[in-house]
Amino acid sequence: MKKLLSASLMCADLTNLGESIRKLEAAGIDYLHIDIMDGSFVPNITLGFDLINAIKEITDIPLDIHMMVEKPSRFIGRMKLGKNDIVCVHYESDIHIHRTLTEIRALGCKAGIAINPQTPPESLEFLADSIDMALVMTVNPGFAGQKIFEGADRKTAKMRRLLNEWGHADIPIEVDGNISPANGRMLCENGADIFVLGTSSLFIKDKDMKQSADDFRSMLREVC
Ligand code: DX5
Ligand code: ZN
Repeated sequence: MKKLLSASLMCADLTNLGESIRKLEAAGIDYLHIDIMDGSFVPNITLGFDLINAIKEITDIPLDIHMMVEKPSRFIGRMKLGKNDIVCVHYESDIHIHRTLTEIRALGCKAGIAINPQTPPESLEFLADSIDMALVMTVNPGFAGQKIFEGADRKTAKMRRLLNEWGHADIPIEVDGNISPANGRMLCENGADIFVLGTSSLFIKDKDMKQSADDFRSMLREVC
């Protein structure tokens, strides 16, 4: 499966987002990863729906929206999205998350499900037919600059094995949190397909963004 880079916008220069997006376009980034946080599901508040709709107006890069939000079905209609955009909700965020996934697909965009470090990958067995992506969180969600949790490699490998067993070798696995080149290498070897790049690999002071993206891509080509 193709390996893709998803740039975490919460780590970009938020005082100059248009310029950051131009640089990401030039760097050939595959997705813009947009973290929405409600201060309740995670103890932080970041980017919102008006910003998402404004970003849609200025770039063709598909959006990879990560909703760290309680009961996300309340909000999915607030975004003007296209067929290549992904709305990813947390398994832990609603007792009717299966219904939310069908609502997302009904909007005409792709549906993703995210699992926190403590949530077993087996939890996704009866959701696999309703998703286009599985997001294995490699940190506890909510903040950039954290350290990958012990066992993220084993969990990613298990997620890949289970999705294949369930007849879904077509579903890509995204990993999000402290995706440094070294962690990216290790996770790619364990089955990851989409890499959320933030402060650990892409938004690094005094480092050229395109160079960082090129370096990450050549590392991926070496190992997977
Ligand atoms: C975590 C965020 C990510 C990511 C940021 O909730 O979803 O966007 O951690 O990248 P790093 O971890 O490299 O700063
Ligand atoms: Zn995220």
